[in-house]
Amino acid sequence: MNLFRTKSLDGLLGSLSPGEGGVGLKRSLGQLDLVMLGIGAVIGAGIFSSIGTAAVGEVAPDGTVVRYGAGPALILSFALLGAVCALAGLCYAELTALIPIAGSAYTYAYATLGELIAWIIGWDLILEYAVGNVAVAIAWSGYFASLLRVFGIDFPFWLAHSIRDVTHSYPERIGELPTVFGMPIAINLPGIVIVALITWLLVIGIKESARANNAMVVLKLAVLALFVGVGAMYVDPANWQPFAPNGWKGIHQGAAIVFFAYIGFDAISTAAEETRDPQKNMPRGILWSLAICTVIYVIVGAVATGLVPYQQLKGSDPLARAFEIAGLGWGQAIIALGAIISMTAVLLVFQMGQPRIFYSMSRDGLLPKWFSKVHPKFQTPHVTTILTGIVVALGSTILDDDETYDLTNIGTLFAFLVVCVGVLALRIKDPHRPRPFRVPFVWVVAPLGAVACLYVMLGLPAAAWERFGIWMALGAVVYFAYGRRHSRLNAAGPAGGGATP
Ligand code: ALA
Repeated sequence: MNLFRTKSLDGLLGSLSPGEGGVGLKRSLGQLDLVMLGIGAVIGAGIFSSIGTAAVGEVAPDGTVVRYGAGPALILSFALLGAVCALAGLCYAELTALIPIAGSAYTYAYATLGELIAWIIGWDLILEYAVGNVAVAIAWSGYFASLLRVFGIDFPFWLAHSIRDVTHSYPERIGELPTVFGMPIAINLPGIVIVALITWLLVIGIKESARANNAMVVLKLAVLALFVGVGAMYVDPANWQPFAPNGWKGIHQGAAIVFFAYIGFDAISTAAEETRDPQKNMPRGILWSLAICTVIYVIVGAVATGLVPYQQLKGSDPLARAFEIAGLGWGQAIIALGAIISMTAVLLVFQMGQPRIFYSMSRDGLLPKWFSKVHPKFQTPHVTTILTGIVVALGSTILDDDETYDLTNIGTLFAFLVVCVGVLALRIKDPHRPRPFRVPFVWVVAPLGAVACLYVMLGLPAAAWERFGIWMALGAVVYFAYGRRHSRLNAAGPAGGGATP
């Protein structure tokens, strides 16, 4: 049995067959919906929360430096990441236009690099989508509690944090936690509630979800505009000195964590089967949302580091805090509310993406059939949507945010890297296939994109690499125990997309 057997493109495109139960996904999204979906996925916990650690850096309780911060040179980290993501985004655009099928990088890898790599990517994408949402749900709770504080309501500490978050970030407050049989307990209750609400919204229908997303995107852009518009008037250029306190090392390691802020433009590709005219709309949706977000980040980064000395951005709510310290307390509540709305949109898009990857993997036989069940009335993959909701809610009440950012970033960068390689593989394997969108200078752009992703990955702490290795090893076990034996390519026929030798 060949581990590197691929699905033929013709087979893949012809296999837009319904999932289990004979019901397919509904094509209802246009280009604007996609850009909104992209911005909905991109602007969230990364800019509202991880930017603090990216600017200041991180030191372990024992005094070891976990990572160096970028300082005001954070704007260079953003510019660097914008360039890296543009390279990967162009590669995504070529593949999404060519293979407009739900499943994102997983599907592209299946068509280009073979089943084993496809499995690795599908498994890896769980880090981006589900684990990423765990980080966002944790940050969501943090801002929710800080919003209530503005109005004088003190949400119980033990009800707004995961236990690991408390032991890592607030060890001095462990004594405040209630105990059961001597064990301290903490629950991320707001995170669980918001994830449950989003899961329900996604089960009842994608068009309804897209509408809710559009409204949230408009609001989040308005709040960031307020931050920039008002904040710019209070910038003190002296705060931009020293500009790069840790030199290039700080810019690089800062970029590696704030990369989280860019994750999401690729999530658009998971909605390919629900998009009208995907060949045209997909690449445009990806590149436009990426360009808009890069400009916004550089400006927000410049204003945030100009408002207060960068060291004061440490914490889970740096933008609200910058306003508070600058004496703009009234704006703090608006920023906190904006952060909550932004992160709700992120949760929505990722919670939508994960089940669609499962859907593709199940349709290929790599996961059990019930993963591709589509609801007869709502036409949504309800089973995996609910499963993802449960996993994310549980994760957000167990895990720590910084670790979760790191793990999400390493997994996502790896997927981007494979996409860059995949574009080249397909150019070699199938050079004459008409491509609705072609990467310009592909022999420069794609290899550069792959190397750039690897370079950003190298800026992450050693613990992130270890956890990534363990996760991937676990994935290999699942593949050899289940996926390899149940793959539809075993019975190579039209339904399986057809194996090519
Ligand atoms: N880019 C998304 C965020 O920052 C994942 O929340």
